[in-house]
Amino acid sequence: MSQSIAVIKGDGIGPEIMEATLRVLDALDCGLEYHFIDAGLTALEKHGTLIPQESLDTIEKLGIALKGPLTTPIGKGFSSINVQLRRHFDLYANVRPAVSFPGTRSRYDDIDMITVRENTEGAYLSDGQEFVDGGDTGLSVIKVTRKGSERIVRYAFELAKNNGRKKVTAVHKANIIKTSSGLFLDVAREIAKEYPEIEFQEMIVDNACMQLVMNPHQFDVVVTTNLFGDILSDLCAGLVGGLGLAPGANIGENAAIFEAVHGSAPDIAGKKLANPCALLLAAAQMLDHLGMNGKGTTIRQGIRDVLQRHRDRVTPDMGGSGTTDTFADALVEQVKSAS
Ligand SMILES: NC(=O)c1ccc[n+]([C@@H]2O[C@H](COP(=O)([O-])OP(=O)(O)OC[C@H]3O[C@@H](n4cnc5c(N)ncnc54)[C@H](O)[C@@H]3O)[C@@H](O)[C@H]2O)c1
Repeated sequence: MSQSIAVIKGDGIGPEIMEATLRVLDALDCGLEYHFIDAGLTALEKHGTLIPQESLDTIEKLGIALKGPLTTPIGKGFSSINVQLRRHFDLYANVRPAVSFPGTRSRYDDIDMITVRENTEGAYLSDGQEFVDGGDTGLSVIKVTRKGSERIVRYAFELAKNNGRKKVTAVHKANIIKTSSGLFLDVAREIAKEYPEIEFQEMIVDNACMQLVMNPHQFDVVVTTNLFGDILSDLCAGLVGGLGLAPGANIGENAAIFEAVHGSAPDIAGKKLANPCALLLAAAQMLDHLGMNGKGTTIRQGIRDVLQRHRDRVTPDMGGSGTTDTFADALVEQVKSAS
């Protein structure tokens, strides 16, 4: 049976890396039917809005979207499309794996951890932002709810349980921000009791930053609030060689959107220099989510093999002399021979 998914090619390098990704998905024979929808600059030019209602309706109907990076135009009146999508579909869990790949410039080998970031509330959203005192004081509200904390912590424990992971670390600043961060930590402690088979650790965010740099292998699943998760997950991407290998899933009850963590890279758009791996790894997460775990694993292993054996075919950010297309060609050959 075929599975329909919404596909947003994206802006800048988006169409190049999306083409590479769909070629690999096709080579894997996943039975996916693509419904191409507009968002971002493309949508603004065609429809006069960054996210047309028709695109939202398609995501709502299909429940799954694979999304290329979108450019948020600079200037008043344009808010982040990614934030809008997360809010519109209540995509409360931002799941970002950080896994070591061979042949990357990174500090450590064998890192395999996942950051689970609350995606819908907290300091990142800065509700009620305003300037007072004639512009000399900036105000914003940090709102963290029991419901929001419960569902994200439970998501992290369920992820750990279903993937044979052993430990969940709740990262917070409850010692200072006693209300919002304190509530999150209290809830994390309560939920942890429901999962006695999984080790629970709590860590203050500043210490977590140092520990991640000094001893990252101690981490397995990290769960945290929105702003801390935003920062920590990029730190984790840095531990495994940068944004070129960083995928992210935005998961809600009724919809899920899979994307590369990096942006639309206008500086290299159209030059075929873009590394397609982050979007490919997001596609692998999507296949896991759809229950096609074997195929997701084939993509991850294929990337590993290409990075190890075909240095001349990978993109310059990975130290190679290839292009987006040669990278995709090598990966298509690899996954075909594996399946
Ligand atoms: N998820 C998203 O849609 C998303 C995320 C971040 C930024 N953005 C948007 O992207 C635009 C550009 O943002 P930016 O320049 O700050 O960040 P960026 O991630 O687009 O680029 C930062 C640097 O990394 C490089 N880079 C990024 N992806 C790469 C890849 N796949 N292969 C090789 N090199 C890569 C770029 O060339 C650039 O030098 C902005 O409009 C921003 O709003 C979108």
